[in-house]
Amino acid sequence: MITHQHEAVIIGAGLAGMRAAIEVAKTGQDCAVLSKIFPSRSHSSAAQGGTGASLGNLDDDNWEFHMFDTVKGSDYLGDQDAAEILAKEAPEVIYELEHMGAPFSRTPEGKIAQRKFGGHTLNFGEKPALRACYAADYTGHVLLHTLFEQCIKYGIRFYAEFQVVHLIVKDNVCRGVVAWDVRHGGLHLFRAKATMFATGGYGRAFRITTNAHANTGDGLNLVMRTGLPLEDMEFVQFHPTGIYRNGILMTEGARGEGAYLLNKDGERFMKRYAPTLMELGPRDLVARSIQTEINKGRGCQTEEQKKQGIPGDHVYLDLTHLGEARLREVLPQIFELARNFAGVDPAKEPTPIQPTAHYSMGGIPVTINGEVIYNADNDSVRGLYAAGECACISVHGANRLGCNSTLDATLNGRRTGRTIAKHLPDLIYEELPDDEPEKAEIEMDWYFKADGSENVADIRNELQDTMMQNCAIFRKGEELKTQLDIVRELQERYQNIGLQDKSQAFNTEVMEAMELGHLLAFSEVIVYGALERKESRGAHSRTDYPDRDDKNWLKHTLAYREPDGKIRLEFKPVVITRFQPKERKY
Ligand code: FUM
Repeated sequence: MITHQHEAVIIGAGLAGMRAAIEVAKTGQDCAVLSKIFPSRSHSSAAQGGTGASLGNLDDDNWEFHMFDTVKGSDYLGDQDAAEILAKEAPEVIYELEHMGAPFSRTPEGKIAQRKFGGHTLNFGEKPALRACYAADYTGHVLLHTLFEQCIKYGIRFYAEFQVVHLIVKDNVCRGVVAWDVRHGGLHLFRAKATMFATGGYGRAFRITTNAHANTGDGLNLVMRTGLPLEDMEFVQFHPTGIYRNGILMTEGARGEGAYLLNKDGERFMKRYAPTLMELGPRDLVARSIQTEINKGRGCQTEEQKKQGIPGDHVYLDLTHLGEARLREVLPQIFELARNFAGVDPAKEPTPIQPTAHYSMGGIPVTINGEVIYNADNDSVRGLYAAGECACISVHGANRLGCNSTLDATLNGRRTGRTIAKHLPDLIYEELPDDEPEKAEIEMDWYFKADGSENVADIRNELQDTMMQNCAIFRKGEELKTQLDIVRELQERYQNIGLQDKSQAFNTEVMEAMELGHLLAFSEVIVYGALERKESRGAHSRTDYPDRDDKNWLKHTLAYREPDGKIRLEFKPVVITRFQPKERKY
């Protein structure tokens, strides 16, 4: 096994990982970034509509409104210390990205342009705020490339196409990781004083998703396997507007620019669910409203689609009144996506859409400075950090607001990078335990020798379809119990997979098998948490427990995998500072 040594090793080259790396490198300390795909292909580049910050370029916005919206949007499960930091530091983070060269769209006076986004308001809910700073609908793409350029400038070492297979943590001290070299084959040991996870989300546990194929939640399971907990995993966000049948994102920025949602009667049905904010309600509410319209028979499936037996239903996103010129100027990506993947001209006809798995509110629990914690008292693991979607800080609570994700990644990536830079002088290259890193060799050996009768794609398809049926927007105890059994049975079948490709270089069959192992492991945690949480809050909506229950459930879950494989939950209080929980009305 080839050994490398870097003071800091960051796993994941999206917005959070690269932003953290820049902070470490700026101090002259040594930092390497590992990514299972080439950095500029990271899923952050798929973020479209904007990054939230109360710049107030087009209205009278301020950070307190932003904090309030984030807390209310979270259904009061978000930790308010984290929400305050997010809202207060956002403008500085945006201006810094601007000065790095991020090509934001502009107002006629040359300021950063800002648009409306769901759940973002002025004056504590009075009317929509213009808060999302955007670069047409390529915001994530331009930010990612801007940060990549900065990383090159600072000489950060990238190990592209290195898939981490093992995390070495013992006695609550992190000692590094072992990664598989995807391009050439072979294991590499990375010893580090500080190790950070920025591996993104896990939408690929669901059939309909906005997420890239790489989003298989590897980091979450690698961390959990060491005995550390995952937080609030039951909260999975469905974005309201994915293209019908394939889930590709049609940005919320479209509704920010004035697009409507219509049911089969041509009615703007959001008036029933969010009379003040209409289509600009928070995501959980809008996704539930669409699903309710469909469930009540007001979906828009055509007779032809029914005749063809096409599964699922949809409503329409109507952009036609915005006109082709405006669409090409501010929403050029979704203009093309609608043409290519929905087969419609969005300037002339409405686009069929359905809710699509988009974002994980839960993840690796961290302090507000990005240190991974191992218990409800916030005690942290020495030398281990996380930020971005794989982390749970928990600023988004039960439901993240649109345009707070690229903000969370860049802002908390920066904070975590600063924490690492500050800690590094006091950290050392820790001893490796006797049986490490051989565990990674044993695991890789298992894949290369796997000759069972089960097929990886079949198991993955079953997982994605059933998660969609039993653990999506609306959930119910019986269905969740069924899903728990299904996931556990799939885990057993996984032990008997057969792989044909024995080659070392670009063995995508082995990679996909490994990713499936991660999907199966954390899906069990999602379902388990959803079954245990007997209330409806944010994105977790139980038809058998339709009300929010602050008395019993205003708390975070910490899920541990015990040595016998069972899941155990602990609970952690929510940090409440300025805003007491109230009924959410939009
Ligand atoms: O709709 C969007 O553009 C997605 C943004 C987000 O998830 O924050």
